Amino acid sequence: MSKPKVIVTRRWHPEVEAVLVERFDTQLNDDDHSMSVAELQDALRNADAVLPTVCDKVTAEVLGADNIRAKILGSNGVGFNHIDLEAARAAGLTVTNTPEVLTDCTADLALTLLLAVARRVGEGERHLRSGEWTGWRPTHMMGTSVTGKTLGLIGMGRIARAVAARAAHGFNMKIIFHDPFPPRAEDIAGLNATQCSSPEEVFKQADFVSLHCPGGKDTYHLIGADAFKAMQPGAFLINTARGDVIDEAALVTALENGEIAGAGLDVFEKEPSVNATLMQMENVVLLPHLGSATEETRIAMGMRVVENVEAFFAGDTPRDKLV
Ligand code: DGY
Repeated sequence: MSKPKVIVTRRWHPEVEAVLVERFDTQLNDDDHSMSVAELQDALRNADAVLPTVCDKVTAEVLGADNIRAKILGSNGVGFNHIDLEAARAAGLTVTNTPEVLTDCTADLALTLLLAVARRVGEGERHLRSGEWTGWRPTHMMGTSVTGKTLGLIGMGRIARAVAARAAHGFNMKIIFHDPFPPRAEDIAGLNATQCSSPEEVFKQADFVSLHCPGGKDTYHLIGADAFKAMQPGAFLINTARGDVIDEAALVTALENGEIAGAGLDVFEKEPSVNATLMQMENVVLLPHLGSATEETRIAMGMRVVENVEAFFAGDTPRDKLV
């Protein structure tokens, strides 16, 4: 039997690409360019499986292409707000994602941002590299202590719980959270985490607010002017989830007005474009969507896609089937 034809939309880890080439009739994206609507539509017409990533916008327009041959979208990433799931279902496509394998890696990065913004790491490094540092002095670049503070989590899924475990056990932080779909008691056992009945309750109490909810219409601009007014003036906002959860213009205003103390951001409303005012602010730490960017995690994510696609073509239900 001939191997299924698979089109991969971006470069993947070389170890995973080698597996894809061995197991499928695979077309790679050699120059790693971002595919246009027409290219994504051609991929759907010419392959049995298309393997997009979180930066490909697989919209209703893309999925409305005529003569679609593909039967599965094996997406490389846990988030799926880049895919119109209803349009995919209507086009007869199965869609899978890659949960679990990037939980620890993303939680590590959320803590990296939290520590970096509280302790002024980005600003300090820029200061030193610019040659401005004149030596230790008692008033120099004082930041905010993290240990023992209150961490407020918006969303309490796997990544949030991994952040909570690090914060509670590593930094003795008090954990509070809100999630419209709260976790089971056994999933938060040992975290000493207190559930809040609304996001506002979290905003009011937290020294650090970390976002772990999905993107998309249900959470669009959840963190806007009202949220910033509810937060403490000394609070820091951390986002490793999706950029459009934050109203970036409102964030800039809140930072300018001192409504919050700073922000650590790995994702942006219009990424890869980043708000020009944010770029100038010393009290924000900005990273280029690195949450899952370790060798180990990118291999695990890619292999999870391979597993899903193989299961599909073997006639089984893929473990991470979304639709
Ligand atoms: C995901 O998988 O959704 C991440 O944003 C990629 O790191």
